[in-house]
Amino acid sequence: MADTKSDTKAEVKKLFVKTYGCQMNVYDSERMVEALGGSGYVEVSSPEEADMILLNTCHIREKAAEKVYSDLGRFKDIKLANPNLKVGVAGCVAQAEGEEIIRRQPMVDLVVGSQAYHRLPELEAKVGNGVTAVDTDFPEVDKFTAMPNRPKARRAPAAFLTVQEGCDKFCAFCVVPYTRGAEVSRPADRVLREAQDLVERGVREITLLGQNVNAYHGQATGGSKDTWGLAQLIRKLAEVDGLERIRFTTSHPNDMEDDLIAAHGDCAKLMPYLHLPVQSGSNKILKAMNRKHTAEQYIELMKRMRAARPDMALSGDFIVGFPGETEQDFEDTMALVREVKYASAYSFKYSPRPGTPAAEKDGKMVDHAVAMDRLHRLQALISEQQYAFQESMVGRDVSVLFEKKGRQEGQMIGKSEYLHAVHASVEGVNIGDIRRVRITQSKTNSLEGQLID
Ligand code: 5AD
Ligand code: SF4
Repeated sequence: MADTKSDTKAEVKKLFVKTYGCQMNVYDSERMVEALGGSGYVEVSSPEEADMILLNTCHIREKAAEKVYSDLGRFKDIKLANPNLKVGVAGCVAQAEGEEIIRRQPMVDLVVGSQAYHRLPELEAKVGNGVTAVDTDFPEVDKFTAMPNRPKARRAPAAFLTVQEGCDKFCAFCVVPYTRGAEVSRPADRVLREAQDLVERGVREITLLGQNVNAYHGQATGGSKDTWGLAQLIRKLAEVDGLERIRFTTSHPNDMEDDLIAAHGDCAKLMPYLHLPVQSGSNKILKAMNRKHTAEQYIELMKRMRAARPDMALSGDFIVGFPGETEQDFEDTMALVREVKYASAYSFKYSPRPGTPAAEKDGKMVDHAVAMDRLHRLQALISEQQYAFQESMVGRDVSVLFEKKGRQEGQMIGKSEYLHAVHASVEGVNIGDIRRVRITQSKTNSLEGQLID
């Protein structure tokens, strides 16, 4: 007779994860779920049924950081109803604020920084019933090396893969060098192994992630002492059979080396879409931001990108209302946007972040209403360009990686090479297929098309 004790499966515990911020956090959340999987946790989609709530947080702007506290406030009732519930705060707010989080919100059981989350299983086991834990170390051995191999489950066709973390650029407004630490690249062998593994599980498109991904300088393959730049890594990844598309984000203009620009022209698997933040079109503001490049250099770089790959879709980030920004400085930003013509772009009102040089300096703050007005004007211009780019797709043929079923019967949704969401009524197409589609219509945030082969 079977031993009933050993037959009893380990208790399944439910984990609710909420992710804030950038794609790197999305990747980290996946890895956290995998790490806690070893402790018996499965992911659920509602906090009410969870045994553990984990918030993977973002510190980039005040609003993102404060959202964490307002969400924690909302979870209080759930904790009251279920005192065994464990609440964890991970990511960049955890890294930046550490113990302060538990002081402000005593319902939090554990705080784990961006570089220490491989220790989540130990921390989780330790906390509860008034015992708390805080781990904001930057350990010697990087977390990816310390974590077990990723589980072998089937995956969605597009995946993120972190290859580089941290930043040494110290833009005056930015918390990243403090929350994520100095720039570190993962060795190419490990990246290739993880990519191969993703492909074996159904992935066709990989987006390489890093806060400064084009500064990648990982150890070359085969234990070599050489390092590879991002272009070399991409070219090697392009040799992986079954991997059809490669993207990378986010980059700094000063690390856009010749080889990487050239790769956009000669590496067919590298998609024609580049997200390259500039932040401002005013040289005075760029200097105050410590960006170490001018508006002209950025524009020239964008021209070189288009020369390498004429159908390149360009994207960027902007900050308005940086201390000292005048109307003329803002007009310089608008002029840069008009010149570059973006396929999409993100813009933000400057948010002073504790510990950053811009926040510590007594710069002349731009009046809130003025900054908001500038933000709206910039966003209107960017939207105009985004719609124009979408409209220009109508009648054109694009390649679409189908990622999921659409709402309507027989409809599927995928991504074009330019990162547009494309809806198409398709038959005989499977998730993960890449097919040619003729665009018939441009909608608010997506395109519609018909299969052509
Ligand atoms: N205030 C506003 N926007 C910021 N960003 C980074 N730091 C700040 C800040 N303090 C924006 C930049 C960056 C993007 C990820 O967030 O545009 O590229
Ligand atoms: Fe936010 Fe930056 Fe952390 Fe990403 S790395 S979550 S953008 S603070």
